[in-house]
Amino acid sequence: MLGIETSCDETAAAVVADGHTILSNVVASQMDIHAKFGGIVPEIAARKHIEAIGYVIKDAVDSSGKTLADMQAIAVTSKRGLIGSLLVGVAAAKSLSYTLKVPLIGVHHVEGHLFANILVNPRIPIPHVCLTVSGGHTMLVYVKDLCNYEVLGNTLDDAAGEAFDKIAKFLGMGFPGGPVIDRLAAQGNKTAFNFPRPVLRERGLDFSFSGLKTAVTNMFKDKVEKGYELPLTDVAASFQEAVVEVLVAKSMQAVLEKKVSALSISGGVSANRRLREAFSDVCERDGLQLFLPPLALCGDNAAMIAAAGHARLSRGEVSGLDIDAIPNAPLDIQDGR
Ligand code: KG4
Ligand code: ZN
Repeated sequence: MLGIETSCDETAAAVVADGHTILSNVVASQMDIHAKFGGIVPEIAARKHIEAIGYVIKDAVDSSGKTLADMQAIAVTSKRGLIGSLLVGVAAAKSLSYTLKVPLIGVHHVEGHLFANILVNPRIPIPHVCLTVSGGHTMLVYVKDLCNYEVLGNTLDDAAGEAFDKIAKFLGMGFPGGPVIDRLAAQGNKTAFNFPRPVLRERGLDFSFSGLKTAVTNMFKDKVEKGYELPLTDVAASFQEAVVEVLVAKSMQAVLEKKVSALSISGGVSANRRLREAFSDVCERDGLQLFLPPLALCGDNAAMIAAAGHARLSRGEVSGLDIDAIPNAPLDIQDGR
């Protein structure tokens, strides 16, 4: 299975055998370009995908030890992402599918993230709950079966990764903010500031991070106006702790509600060291199996798309060459077309 992923700012291609064996996994990041603008510029992202896609696919196929003629199917992210970016991957995948006369499978980007753990853990219990948390989404998903999901909770405003990015930008730490805050927080005091834990007291499983973001920026401006010098490490650690605490609490609530014995976490924010530590502690305490992806599969990559495509193809689901790129498709609508 050749996987192709271009939903945001990473041009990625991968070759995966049998849904679980990664033969190659190539990711070309555009981060340096977008960092100059303090965020992803959709028009630039699409143009850069066009420049890179051919090379990235060639690199993925060559480094897999296979040839294009060996590819038995093409999986591509066709749903959820920036429209201009998605279109580049979808057009490349259609061309390859048509030329090689192999099936094409459209994959939802979030479904790809769910498969980051399934890919490397063939024995992961099904059903389980997955917290998928990135720059574009924060979702709790009940994985009832492979390719059969129920969205339990969603973000009402900013995604968790987006909150990391916005706070880092506000504090002048650069883009993307998650890895910078992760690093700074490691040297800070996580109890220095008592930031609000958004929607923690509400019983639903939705998330909201914009209030936390406002609380951090207001506190910072207020203190600076009064002449205080705030240690950025403490601000980073306290902010990160508030995000992690909410993610842990809502995930454990979802696990209880669905009575499952396993929790998986995926998406760019799952690389966060404090998050990994906090979830490991709480899952050990409660006797839950925890699945975290290796760092290379946390952020956007095409191996997870190939794995999801493999699962759909195994169920006989194939997309037509008229497949569309759909920027806002919900995860629940999964007809594979
Ligand atoms: O999954 P991903 O690569 O792309 C999307 O689908 O959005 O996630 C990117 C997001 C960014 O917001 C980035 O700041 C965040 O993941 N991120 C992190 C860390 N590494 C990446 N957030 C917190 N801690 C990290 N170590
Ligand atoms: Zn993603």
